[in-house]
Formats: sequence, C-alpha cells, structure tokens
Amino acid sequence: MSTHNVWTHKGTFLLAAVGSAVGLGNLWRFPYLTGENGGGAFILVYALTIFAVGIPILIAETMLGRNSRRSPIMGMRFLTRTHNTSRAWESIGWLGAASAFLILSFYSVIAGWAIHYTWQMLTGSLAGADAATIGAGFDALLASPALLTLYHTLFIVASGLIVGMGIHKGIESGLRIIMPALFVILLIVLAYGVANGDFAAAASFLFTFNLADLSLEGWLAAMGQSFFTLSLGMGAIMAYGAYMSSEISLTRTAIAIAIVDTAVAMVAGLAIFSLVFGADLSPGQGPGLMFVTLPLAFAEMPFGALVGGVFFILVLGAAISSSISLIEPVAAFLVERFDLTRPQAVFAMVMASWALGLLTVASFNVYAEGTIFHTLFGRSAFDFIELLTNIFMPLGGLLIALFAGWALTHSEVMKEMRTNETWFTIWRLLVRFVAPAAVAFVFLRAIPQVEGYLIPAIGALVIVGAFAAGRTFLVDDSQEQ
Ligand code: PHE
Repeated sequence: MSTHNVWTHKGTFLLAAVGSAVGLGNLWRFPYLTGENGGGAFILVYALTIFAVGIPILIAETMLGRNSRRSPIMGMRFLTRTHNTSRAWESIGWLGAASAFLILSFYSVIAGWAIHYTWQMLTGSLAGADAATIGAGFDALLASPALLTLYHTLFIVASGLIVGMGIHKGIESGLRIIMPALFVILLIVLAYGVANGDFAAAASFLFTFNLADLSLEGWLAAMGQSFFTLSLGMGAIMAYGAYMSSEISLTRTAIAIAIVDTAVAMVAGLAIFSLVFGADLSPGQGPGLMFVTLPLAFAEMPFGALVGGVFFILVLGAAISSSISLIEPVAAFLVERFDLTRPQAVFAMVMASWALGLLTVASFNVYAEGTIFHTLFGRSAFDFIELLTNIFMPLGGLLIALFAGWALTHSEVMKEMRTNETWFTIWRLLVRFVAPAAVAFVFLRAIPQVEGYLIPAIGALVIVGAFAAGRTFLVDDSQEQ
C-alpha cells in the first residue's frame, strides 16, 4: 500500500523541510558548539560540510522518499524490491526510525526547558537578576524531575496533537502559522541584539577563520552538527519527501533548505553573541549558553524580560516544527504497516518516546551519576542517547548516499533532480565518493575518542540489526507485493 498523500501546495515541502531543519540545532546547539570551539574555524568546517556533503545527501534523501512515496521503512523495502538490491538496505529505514525515536526523547526534554524560560521571562522573575541567581535557577530546574517531566510532557503532547491531526490539517496548517512568526521574531531579536549588544564583537568572533584553532573534537562536532541541523540521515526528510509533488526540482529545493537553515543559524549566532559580548559574558558556556548566559544578558537590558520571553517563544516554535518531523516518519510507518489510525500511531510513537525521555530527565538529577548506566557506558543516559544518535545520523546519511548514488538509475535520478547532465555528474560524484569519504573520516577520527563506547555502540547496532532481521522472518509481507 502506498500513501497517496501529497502536500497541498508546491511550496509546502520546502516549508516543512525548513521547519524540520530549523530547530534547537540552530538556536541552542549551534551557538554553544561555536562558542566552545572557538568561533570562525568551527563555522568554516560546518559550512563546508553542509555544502559538500549535506546538500547532496539532502537531495538523495528526498529522492528516496519521493521515488517510493512511502514512509522510510516501507519505502526502502519497496525500493530494494524494485531495484533488485539486497534487503539489507532496509536498514536505512530502521536506523532512521530508531534515530527519530531516540532524538525525540531528549529533544522534547530540552525544548521543555524553553517553556520554563518563556514563563520566567514573561512574568519578569529574572529581571535584574545576577549571575548567581540565574545559575541557581537553572540548577534548580535540572534538579527537579517533576518540573522537567511536566515540561517534557507538555511539549511532546503538543507535538503529538499536531501530527495526529494529519499532514494537511495538522502539519501544514501548523507550519503555516509557526514559520513566518519565527522569522519575524528572529529579526526582532537580531535588531535588539544590534541595538543593545556588541555586534562587532559577535561578528568578529563568528567570522574570523583560523583553522589552526580547531581541535579534532571541533572538527567532529562541526560535521556532526551539519547532519543534525539539516535533519539528515533519519527519515524525517524522506517522510516529507514522500508527500512532495513530482514536478519540483530537488536540486533547487535542497539548496534553498540549506541556505535558509544556515542563515538562521548565523543570524541566531550573531544575535546571541551580540547580547553575550555586550553583557561582558563568556561565549564558551556549553549547553548552558542559552539557558544561563543569555537570560543573564537579557536581565541587564532594557525590555529584556519581554524580548527574552519572545526569544524563548521562538525557541519553542522552532523546536515544535522539528519535533513533528521526528514523529511523522514513525507514525506514517505504523499507519502503513499495521493499519493503525493516525492518532493511534502517533500515540504509540509519542508514548514510547516520552517514556524513554524520562531517562534523560533523570540524567540531570536522580541518575546524574553512579548508576548502572555510568558503570556500563561511562556516561549518563542522556549523553549515551545523544552519542548513539550522533553515530546513527551520519551512518544513515552514508547509507542513503550510497543507495541513491549506486542503486538508482540515471533516468530516475534525472527525473527527480530535473537538472542538466553537469549537475547530475557533480551530484553523483559527491554522493558516490565524497560524502562517504567524509563520513568515513568522521568515524575513523572519532574512534580514539569513543573507544570506551564502541562496544555499547556496536551492541546497539547489533540489536537494531537483529530486530530488522527478525521481522524479515516473522512478518508476512506477501500482501504487499
Ligand atoms: N534539525 C533539527 C534542529 O536543528 C533537529 C532534527 C534532527 C529534526 C533530525 C529532525 C530530525 O533542531
């Protein structure tokens, strides 16, 4: 059975893909990683990876979705059949579903922090507060499993409701309201940063390139971030691509997505660092940059409580337009495969991911250290889940590039890309050789660092593999020929 759903308008895929791409990755992760890794050099590697590896894989992933017109798992199964390739390629779908489920579990917890800060800002509780008070407030939030669970639940339920209402009434209509609002708010925050902060310092921090400043971890983080920020390698883009009208050029669309996503990260970085430098704070604060350093900057500035509140609404909107793209691929699969209704499918996915998210919640307090997890994996459950997704996403991207590059025929690709031979040749070169080499490089360089986690990581892969193999035997798919 294939989904015959198609987006209402030609431009909706672009809207939805930008909604997926622009998220906590741009507003929270990108600025703090840039801050930790010394600025410009990090951005250079990040931008190069986006353009040389990200865009070709983005084209490939959309192509697999649109060509199969099914959810990622069923779509890959369909493509392996129609192209007479090994069923092992189905692992692309399974890896994607696993990543979506894992990412949603912690993404929702972190987005939940933004609910807390929206509230704190708009009620003026942080106006004029000093560093110690704001730092203590963040620590108190993380120390409270009840509060974290409450926000996590609110966020994931809101995301589930949107997806549950369907791709037209829920996702499309939701995005049509959220996305324009986000761009307006982003510009307001930028203008505020320019007016009240130190824009020149921010610009020189972000755009002074000195590759020698970049550590090995910086390189890896930059490449990992470019996958995360484009939502690559985990089925979100494939699922949205399945609903895309056949007439649109994939090349142009993919380039547009990458440009908008990168521009949002840069504008967010400029705005945030203007405020941080303007308040004489340090950029290298890690994950606390947005939740401690930035509120501190807002606390000292005119109308800071109001603009800060609006900023956290921006964070929430961007996060929700991404989290719905994490639910969609798995929900669509459950609908196609098990004939569930959409609300049932969404409920199943969201409930499971919500429950897993409790591990992330506990990682900040009750299970902060000394649990079996730490003994086995040397880190908290949250860090471990994040590490797994950092492995799964590039791996998924690699497999997508290889499948699209080697298994799809020339005419199929030409039909999807709607471009000329030159672009086709460049794209094929990139997905066949350059992207795989880049991903392999990331993995090889990462081995010394993750040695201790290699065994659990391989273990997890074996579990996923066994699961995929198991269902190959258990499931009767004759009805779907
Ligand atoms: N791209 C999103 C962000 O930057 C995160 C995401 C990853 C969303 C993978 C969907 C799939 O926040």
